[in-house]
Parts: sequence; C-alpha cells; structure tokens
Amino acid sequence: MKRKKYFGSNLKMYKNVAQTESYLKELADRTRELCMQNPDMELFILPSYTSLETASKSTDQSEIHLGAQNMCWEDEGQFTGEISPVMLEELDLHLVMVGHSERRHVFGESNIEENKKMLAAMKHGFTGLLCIGETKEEKGYGIADEVLRTQIKVGLHGIAAEDLDKVWIAYEPVWAIGVNGIPAPVEYAQEKHHVIRETLRELYGEAADVVPALYGGSVNLENATRLFVQPDIDGLYVGRVAWDAKRFAGLIADCLATGEK
Ligand code: PGA
Repeated sequence: MKRKKYFGSNLKMYKNVAQTESYLKELADRTRELCMQNPDMELFILPSYTSLETASKSTDQSEIHLGAQNMCWEDEGQFTGEISPVMLEELDLHLVMVGHSERRHVFGESNIEENKKMLAAMKHGFTGLLCIGETKEEKGYGIADEVLRTQIKVGLHGIAAEDLDKVWIAYEPVWAIGVNGIPAPVEYAQEKHHVIRETLRELYGEAADVVPALYGGSVNLENATRLFVQPDIDGLYVGRVAWDAKRFAGLIADCLATGEK
C-alpha cells in the first residue's frame, strides 16, 4: 500500500509565541511549492502549548498541520498542570503526540498511560502519533524488538481497526535522540521499522497498512535521504535540524528529490 510522505517536527520546549509564529510562516513560505508539487506530502509541527492558539490562528493547516506535544486522557478533573483533549479541540488541531521519549523517560510515563492517551485521542477525533523506541540499555540486552512490540501492543490496545487511519507511529530510539544522541545506522532503522510493520500486521492484518511509521532521532542533512528511501520508513520526524525553517525546507526538498518513494 502506498502511504503519504511525512515530515514533521516537535518544537519541544523551544520558541516563544512570536518565534513560533514567524517560524511557521517562514516554513510555509519555503515549502509551499513543494507541497503543491507533492500532494501526498504531510507536513506537521508540534509547538509548545502556549504557542498553539496563536499558531492555530495564523497557520493555514492545509499546508502545515499542527498538533500538541502531549495530552491528558481525561476530559476534565483534578489533574493540575495537565491539558485535556476538550481544551485542545478548541484550537482546531489535527494531531496529538503520545509517549515521546522525554515523556516516558524524563517524566516517567508508562505504556498503560500512553494507551489511555491514544484512546482519548481516538475518542476526540485527533490523529494520535504514538512514539516508541528502545533505550540504550534495552538495545544492549538484545531486547529492542520485544520493547517495540510491547510499546505497540499496549499503546494501541483497544483501538479498533476502523480508527487506524488516525494512528501514526514514530520510531525514535532513545539513544539516538537529542544533543547526546548517536544517529541510528540506516540499516538498523529499517530493520526496526520492519519489526513495527510486522507487529501492526499481526495485530490488525492488512488494515494496519494505512498506519504510517516515521523515523526520528538525530535526523540530519547527511542521513535524511538515506533514511527516507528505506522501504518501511514513511517519513522523518526531525528535532534540532528542523527548528530552522530554511534547513528543514532544504531537508524536505532533498528527500523529495530522491523520487524513490
Ligand atoms: P533530534 O530530536 O532530531 O534533535 O534528535 C528528535 C526527537 O526528539 O523527536
């Protein structure tokens, strides 16, 4: 099955409201032609919560989809510091990320919590971007495949096949993310994406083929095209390199120019 070509970035805890607005404007300007030439391309950005309202008002989401970096699974209640799906609905967002490695490993979220968030995303009509990835230690013990399979099986538990068009997966090996990350070898990334594809098939059969799987973790201008052309990688989820609109637009243009997808 032919899936779309995905490019996205999580802005993490960077960029204030004005910086987010000007970044999105510049990115839209620099990618407009690419979007028109590649109607099967999906571009998305996840700004900080405080920037989301302004971003949503000032961005044409037919060009750049916007999403939230996290979400509570409850609609309302005694959950100090959390943001509910109902609040995000007011902002006209398409996408909610669930289980980014920093949520799992800095803030201690569990697979079961990520599952509750994915179910809440489905209930409220968001696309849920479930992030998965093994730690360096898990890789060292040779259990990366088992970790990924568990994260997928628990993360998607209870999600009906009819809702799979609202599920995206991002594979981000924890040891490859951020300033101290080591980029995953392209062959390794492809191999793990194959495990993801097999696990999805096992759970849902052919219905799972609609679910895209993106690669993230130290994607840069040097490795982006080689990652992008891998058969089981549907797109790139880019951190640092994408936070400069010119560089991100250049990376996307390079990938699309390979013409191999
Ligand atoms: P990075 O971030 O590209 O800066 O490694 C990836 C991510 O956290 O999604």
